[in-house]
Order: sequence, then structure tokens, then C-alpha cells
Amino acid sequence: MTDALPADPLIALRPWEAPEVTSWGRLPMNAVDRRSGALLLDGDWRFQLLSTPDAPVGGAWSSSYVPGVWTMQSAGADDLPQYTNVRMPFAEFPPGSPAANPTGVYEREVDVPADWAGRRIVLQVGAAESVLLVHVDGRPVGISKDSHLAAEFDLTEVVRPGERSIVRLTVVKWSDASHIEDQDQWWHGGVTRSVLLYATDPLHLADVTVRASYAGELRIDCRVRDAGGALPDGWYVSGELEGQLFAQDREFDRANAEDDRVSDFLGEARIQATVPEVRTWNAETPELYDLTVRLHRPDGAVADTSRHRIGFRDVEIVGRDLLVNGERVFIRGVNRHDFHPLTGRTVSCDDMRADLVLLKRFGFNAIRTSHYPNDPTLYDLADELGFYVVDEADIESHDHAHEIADDPRYLGAFVDRVSRMVLRDKNHPSIIIWSLGNESDYGANHDAAAGWVRRHDPTRPIQYEGAAKLDWAATDDASDIACPMYAPIEDCVAHALSGEQTRPLIQCEYSHAMGNSNGTLADHWAAIESTPGLQGGFIWEFWDHGILQRVSDGRPVGRAGAGLYDNGVVAPGHRWAYGGDFGETIHDGAFIADGVVFPDRTPKPALYEHREIAAPVRIECYRHEGIVLGNHQHFRGLDWLSGEWELSLADGRTLSAPAELPALRPGETAAVPLPFELPRDGGEAWLTLRVTTAEDQPWAPRGTDVCAPQVRLRAPAVREDAPVERPVEVDGEGLLIHPLLTAAPTLSLWRAPTDNDELGGIAPRWRTWGLDSLVRKVVSVRQEGDRVTVDAEYAGTVGVVRHRQVFTPVEGGIRIDEEAELPDEFHDVARVGSVFETVEGLDLLEWFGQGPWESYPDRSVGAPVGHHSLPVDELFTPYLRPQESGGRHGVRRFTLSAADATGLAVELDEPRQVSVTRYRAEDLTAASHHDELVPRSGCVVHLDAAHRGLGTASCGPDTSASYLIPPGVHRWSWTLRVL
Ligand code: GAL
Ligand code: MG
Repeated sequence: MTDALPADPLIALRPWEAPEVTSWGRLPMNAVDRRSGALLLDGDWRFQLLSTPDAPVGGAWSSSYVPGVWTMQSAGADDLPQYTNVRMPFAEFPPGSPAANPTGVYEREVDVPADWAGRRIVLQVGAAESVLLVHVDGRPVGISKDSHLAAEFDLTEVVRPGERSIVRLTVVKWSDASHIEDQDQWWHGGVTRSVLLYATDPLHLADVTVRASYAGELRIDCRVRDAGGALPDGWYVSGELEGQLFAQDREFDRANAEDDRVSDFLGEARIQATVPEVRTWNAETPELYDLTVRLHRPDGAVADTSRHRIGFRDVEIVGRDLLVNGERVFIRGVNRHDFHPLTGRTVSCDDMRADLVLLKRFGFNAIRTSHYPNDPTLYDLADELGFYVVDEADIESHDHAHEIADDPRYLGAFVDRVSRMVLRDKNHPSIIIWSLGNESDYGANHDAAAGWVRRHDPTRPIQYEGAAKLDWAATDDASDIACPMYAPIEDCVAHALSGEQTRPLIQCEYSHAMGNSNGTLADHWAAIESTPGLQGGFIWEFWDHGILQRVSDGRPVGRAGAGLYDNGVVAPGHRWAYGGDFGETIHDGAFIADGVVFPDRTPKPALYEHREIAAPVRIECYRHEGIVLGNHQHFRGLDWLSGEWELSLADGRTLSAPAELPALRPGETAAVPLPFELPRDGGEAWLTLRVTTAEDQPWAPRGTDVCAPQVRLRAPAVREDAPVERPVEVDGEGLLIHPLLTAAPTLSLWRAPTDNDELGGIAPRWRTWGLDSLVRKVVSVRQEGDRVTVDAEYAGTVGVVRHRQVFTPVEGGIRIDEEAELPDEFHDVARVGSVFETVEGLDLLEWFGQGPWESYPDRSVGAPVGHHSLPVDELFTPYLRPQESGGRHGVRRFTLSAADATGLAVELDEPRQVSVTRYRAEDLTAASHHDELVPRSGCVVHLDAAHRGLGTASCGPDTSASYLIPPGVHRWSWTLRVL
């Protein structure tokens, strides 16, 4: 030990273990966009990874790409991504951090333009995690924390225009701040957003605050700062809206101007206007106006400019309703992280646009920026494409929530993070709610931050789950909205009906999308839409955060990996890595893969369910006079949509006819005549309205699918196959012998556990019952004429299932009548049905039933009944951790055929759950990653008399009782024919 302090004052301060130090030398946050005209410093920087922040810099330099995280780059050496949900990755208590503390040193030369002489020069670091220390030419310049917001430093006195400077960014990975950045995601280290250098006049726009109301009132508050001293006379600001100069202000508020001790003068100017016949902003019709705010010298010359795209809209809470422009809008939201499978946290404008375009196409209208302020571009895109945004501050102290919420050492950090978010983002019309953060208990630090926001921006409500969860009906906490996570539907409804509700109820997280999930989404929405007081929620979450990993060396592929994946599946030799795959000892496994899209943004089937639930136009009912259509939007008519009627008949026919959508205002309904004369024959009949975009939308070309509401026009006719005389062959075990089957139909009660089954404790129960390894024993084989009856028993550990199959020869095939009697011990099983396997070569499935995408009993409203066909290999959904997948609900009949049209046909007695895959349930159960699966050449076919709902029990409620399988007798029949 030496007493001598290190020479560097930024290091000497040890800011990584001082929560009171939120910044030093950092400029105040503001909403002036400096991206245009700036010198972009992105690219390869010299890079060294130190083992601790106070280790000497002096080793060999490698290089690292900025923006980026070293944990995803080769420069990161052994410091690889690590995933934890709640627990901190190190043992130290707040505000401590571990002695082994990877610290990245980034350095590069910057040529400061000569024509910046006399100007104020600012360095902006878009984001760095978790502590940023800035040096320029060896001089300490500043410190910043708050990993998802920019930090700006005034370099005017440090650099010389026309000369070259060396900028060094030292990024310390672990700190006191890590304890309040304990979000459920990968831990990384690096500079994750762009770095820029820009110049302004010494007298410049320090901030611009825009308020634009539904009534067309526009108010712009400008803060003008003179870095040179007191504000001189004659300067003024002006505003220009859509090419129209509408106001100027020569009168700064000069309250402090006489005070000659003020060397850093701030003046304020307000300009106001009323815009007649304003086009208002909402998520359906996101009308934006271009606003330019200018600061002028006395001669009129422009000294500084700030450009904004603004929207005129109001947000307010009236009673228990959240209103946008006076309308109680439904919040069809999703939680979104800034995530990319190749870069970790750095997202491009194109990536973000693709995210939002996809969300629009699947019926979402809201985003919660879980759990930190997102890349600034995200909000520009949300304004433009139309989303309601809950902007969330970068505060989550999950592991030590209770200690930190009231810890005064963290008070500054809470207020700093919330206020800086508000200061940056306040001009976005898309942002309708501020969130104080996530999962940080509730304490004085939250109240302090809420107090700051309420004073600074009274135009938007605040939400914070941790405050409101204590009592949804409270009126005196930091949250204006009751925003629970994963509340059961019944609890929400009961609260809304209780007479106690005091504020809107909008779930900040619901319907956990891990693996094959989102069961009961439609039930949530049926409750929301029919219960005043309920307004929606945000699905958890958008992304499966799988990182593209090379299997050979276990490293992330990084930016070179583009093209190594398609449709959710990665190239051989690679996999989507989840927790534990980088050798982490502390991790939370596949819990990081819980989104509605795969890591490459391929939609999961659950999205089709959401799209239908969010349908803007719906079939309300079918009456004798025709079909009643309703407009379920809040602000728009149906003119942006076009429709086509489709009639699917069980006999295989599909008829179509153009649909004329009636002119309906939001909330209106109208009857339209039945588009077809219903053919007398043809059996069961379904009418579908296929709705697409009538013209190009900013998020969808003309003709993009929007929804497909459906109504049944005729029930199926009962059909009896008369027995014929032909023997049925079974073996000594009573197993059917059939030329196309390699494994005869047996009883199955097991499915490869979904993440919900596993984490919800359901599959562990099934295992203790022995459902995964039932032992079949034939009891009797009886022949009466050509009919064969096989009785068998399937023994688990706690009970025995009696199973009977009756094989009856019928025209062209065999009818199989089955019956299974589940003892009371098996009161909640995965499925009751038949499983068999086919010869190879039957590669095409054609079916009449719900589809074309995967559907399950509690996730099936988005899969219309019709005639569908898909190659067997495309039926399966490659969830990151293999599990039950590929099911189709409501299947009436199907064929499985080879290229020469030979194969088999199955007719079911009722609409049933069917799956056809290349995997046995045990193949899926045994694998931990998709790349471990070896497809079988034949097909594994399940026909289920009953299939358990999916629910969301990996985090939140299990499926509802109506989707569970009761014990007792289950019966089903099917006919197997050869094509
Ligand atoms: C919530 C949390 C999210 C995520 C989710 C589970 O409790 O806010 O960040 O952890 O659960 O996936
Ligand atoms: Mg958490």
C-alpha cells in the first residue's frame, strides 16, 4: 500500500463507489438535437481492457468499435456477456463493487475543425455503462453515470480548433450505479451509443420546451445561455412552423442580467401561437409538424437552430380513465429493450424502425421503454409511426430494492436519472406517461423524483409499479396510474367493479411471452374491453434476447454475424445463446428469451393472436339480415382499409368476393348484406373478412394483412362412416399394424414442457406423476367380426389410466374410437390424445381447421378456420429452448402426403388439437438448444382429445381453469385412410 494518491483526479475520486457522485463537469441535459452538423466520432477506437479502474494504462492497444460493447467484441477478451434477472452478478452490497472490475479505455485522435475558432465546442457521449470518465489530451474533463442517457462536456477551453486532440473515454463496468441498473437483461460494458463533437455559438439555445395542445395552442419556452457572460442586448428567438414564421420574442426574461457575478447567464424566452384547424396527433393518425426554433443576433442572423417534429395532443386522467385527446384509448402495449443479437445494446435507426414497423403490423399502439430511456431515435420513430410511449427512467435496484429506495446516498441518482430523462424527451408527442423506473421497491427517493417531474412537467401523468402495487386504490403515492405486473384477469376485473378504483388500471407488464406462451391473451382483452376502468397493458416483452454465438469457441459472433440467421433459425455451428452459455456461473438461463419475436425479429405465433385481438374492424355478429361490422378504433374511419370476403366450406371449397367496408366512425357499427348465397351443400361454413391496408402506410405497403375477423355460418353435419367388411391388423400388444405408420397410435398425456410448464411448477408435478414415462400394458385384445377392441393400462407413479381403442374398418380406412379414463390423481395433465409416427416422405400437411400458424386452446382466436397447407418442416416453431411446439388448434381433418400425392388422411370427430413435427416429445424435452435437435425423417403426429392451455406461468398467471384437463373419461374418434 502506498499513501500517495493516484495522479489522476477522476480516478482518485473513485466515483465508481460513490453514489452521491452522479456527474462532474457534465452539462445539463436538454432537448436540443445536435446530431445534424456534428462531427461523428463513431468507428474503431484504440482500446485496452484493464482489470480494475485504477490499474495503469500502458499495455498493448487493441481496437474496439464505437458504439458497441466490448463484451460482444474480440477486444473484450474474456469479459463476456452475463445474464442475471434479479440477482447482482457480484456479492458486494450497495454501493460497493467488486475489486475485479473490467474497465475499458477507449482512445482516439480528433481533428478539431479550424472553422470552429471562437465557438463553443461540446463532446457528447451517447451512452456508456456504467461510469464514464473523460480525458482530453490527458486533462480530466468530466464524469458521468446513467448508462442510457447522453453526457455532454464543454471542451471549449480544452481543445484548439485546427489542432488534433486525443479523446480518452474510460468506462468502468461495475459501480454503485450497477445496483440501480439491475434490470433483467445481459450485463455488458462499453460505449453503446454514438459519440459526437459539435460546436455552437457561445450564445446558444440551451434548451427548448414545446407544449402543443389538442386545441392548437403552441407554447415554446427557450432557455438561452451565454457562455461568454451576461446576455447582450438585441438577441431574440423565433419559431417557424411548417414554413410559417409565427412568432418572435425580443424580450428575454433578464431577471439575473444585472448580477455581474453571473458569468454563465441563462435567459428565458417564451413564444406562443395558436394554430387554427390543427391536425392533431394520436397513435392512429400521428400528424407531425416541423418546428424550427432559432436564436438570432440583433441583425437577424441565425446564431443557433433547434429542429423539432411536434404533435398537437393532450393527455389527462379524468376519474379512472386515461384520455388522449379526450378519448379513453386502449393501450395495446409491449415492453421493449434496446437489443440486438450481434451488438448487444447498440441499435441502428433501421433496426428501431423495423421493430416499430413490426409492432404496428401486429396491432400494437404502445411501448414501455423497459427499463431505461431508449436510444433517442426510438422516440422520433414513435412520434412518426404512432405509438403511445411510457418513457422509463434507468432505475432498477431489484436485488437490493428495499435498502436503496430510502438510501439518501442514492437520492441524487434517482432525481438525476428521472429529471434528465424528462429534460431530454419532453417534446415528444408520443410520450404520454413518465415512469420512475422498475422493481426498486418504493421509498423517499421515488417521491423526490416524482416531485421534480410534477413541478417540471405537469402535462403528463407519472407511473411507478412499485408505488401503486401496495394499494391500487391509493391516491397519495408517486403513481397516477395503477400499473401492476402480471395481475390475474379476475383481480383486475374485481378491482374495476369494486367501486374503490381511483385511477386508471393499465398493466405495466402482462402476458409473459417466454417460449410457447401468451395463453389467455384474448381473455385478458375480453375483460379489458368489457370492463370500464381497465385500459390495457404492456406485454412482457418484445425481444427474445438470444445472442448469436459460435458453438466452437463459445464467443459471440458480433457484427460479422449478419446473414447467419433466417426466420428465427441460425446457421449450423451457431446458436442463440441464453444465460449460462458464456460460462457464467451466476445466471438465470433461458429467462432472457421471453419475447414475442425471435432474436432476429422473426414474429412468434403469439403475435398473430395479438393482431387479431387488436383488429380495427370486427364482425360483431351474424344475423338474418347479414353481418354487423364495427369500427374498433379511437380516431379513424375504415377508409384506410380494404376487405375481401372469403367463404370456407368443409368440403374443400373456398369462395371469395370483394368487400365494401362501410363508412363507420370510431365506435359505430353497421349491417352489411351477406356477400354470398350460402351453398346448400358443403358442410360446415366459415365466413372470413380478410382486411388489408388499402394504400401504403408509413409502416406497411398497400395490401398488408391487418386482421381477419371470422364468423361461422353453418355448423358441421354429423357424419357416420358405415362399417365395411375388412380385417384390421393389430399385433400381440394390441398395436395397430399399418403400412404408413412406423409407430402405432398410443395414448399420450405428456408434452415437452413449455417454459411456462417448467417454471410454473407444472411439469415438475407431471414428472412426479410419471406422465413422461407412462408404462403401457395391454390388458385384452378382443375381436368381434372385423372390429378389434384393445384395452390397455398406462401406469404412472401415482395412478393408472385405462385406455381403450376400438378399430372398425370403414370405407377406405379404419375408424378408431378411443376412450381414456384418468384417475383423480391426474387432475391436470398436458394432453389426452393419440400419438403415432409415419413413414418418411410425407412432407406436406394440408388441413381444414385453424391456421396457418401455430395455435393452442388458449391462444387461438388469431388463427382463422380455413383450408391450410404447409410443409411439415415449417410447422414447427423453433423456440430457443426446445419445447412443445407446432400445434394447430381446431383441426377437423388433415392429409399428410408425399410429392406423388400418396399418404394418409385423418378425419376427426370434432375440432381437435393436432401437431405434426419431426420430433418426439422426449426429443424436445432432452434438448436445451435448438441446434441440438436432430429431426426424424418421418412425422410424429399428435391428435389430442384435450390439450392443456399454455398460460403464462413462467412469470404470472397460469392458464384459466377452463383450459385445464379434468380427470375422468375422455373420448375421441378419428378415421385413418390411405390416400
Ligand atoms: C418483471 C420485470 C422484467 C422481467 C420480467 C420477467 O418482473 O419487470 O424486467 O424481469 O419480470 O421476464
Ligand atoms: Mg427485475
